[in-house]
Amino acid sequence: MNIIGGPASQLLAGRVAEAMKSPLLLSEFKRFPDGEQYIRILDDFAGEEVTIIQSTVNDSDFISLLQLIDACNEASKINVVIPYMGYARQDKQFKKGEPISARAMAGAIKADNVFTVNIHNESILDYFDAKATNLDATPMLGRYIKNMKFKEPLIIAPDDGAIPLARNASKDLGIDYDFLEKTRLSGETVSIQPKNIEVKGRDVIIIDDIISTGGTMAETISLLRQQGAHEVFAACVHPVFSNNAISKLFRAGVKGIIATDTIDRGMSVVSAAPVIAEGIGK
Ligand code: R5P
Repeated sequence: MNIIGGPASQLLAGRVAEAMKSPLLLSEFKRFPDGEQYIRILDDFAGEEVTIIQSTVNDSDFISLLQLIDACNEASKINVVIPYMGYARQDKQFKKGEPISARAMAGAIKADNVFTVNIHNESILDYFDAKATNLDATPMLGRYIKNMKFKEPLIIAPDDGAIPLARNASKDLGIDYDFLEKTRLSGETVSIQPKNIEVKGRDVIIIDDIISTGGTMAETISLLRQQGAHEVFAACVHPVFSNNAISKLFRAGVKGIIATDTIDRGMSVVSAAPVIAEGIGK
């Protein structure tokens, strides 16, 4: 199977090709003077199966992905891996008149198979015409956390939505996990605490699917530090990190940031490549 790395996923595509011992095709990318994008796959693949790997962090990445799919018209089969799918958080109409942006994006992607990694909401998979599979990179984060030799590590989900991430990251590793529960004490007072486990004196790793503005994570870091956690770490699958998100986390007192390479950032210390290689190789 031939692997093609889009401009947003060069490193991850290289790692997947290496893990699968598959040919990695070379493409060139450039922009025309008017800003339009140009892509050309330089190696021959006609009549063969191809797997395009391209995260869609911004709008240009979406265009690149559509261009790559079209350029693969002569392949026998097209698999598309979208390690991080932008617009996935607009997975429903929150206000009248809004699009379901995730549906619009998914509808434009024509392939035989689509793979996502920890997509924000699995209901989005139904919007693809192709057979779509969501892969889980949280066990890779869990293994990294295990190897860090933290002090009585505790993985915490900042909200209900992240509970499956915390559960899967800790699974079979003998690491405790919990989630933050909001309890209204009175009209004015709300208490936010880990549901079952005391954090005092323990190293806490907060896990979420995405860190974008860093708002959710910074608030959770401050809270857990106030509650006596020893060191607090932030972990996520998708390190979007828009604007001053990194500073926000450090100002809140984070000790370190752990993320995967679905988006290639400085804190992408865990690779999603083994999970993708296994998923597409099945
Ligand atoms: C929300 O549903 C997500 O799971 C993340 O908690 C959220 O997207 C993080 O965004 P931000 O970093 O902007 O708070």
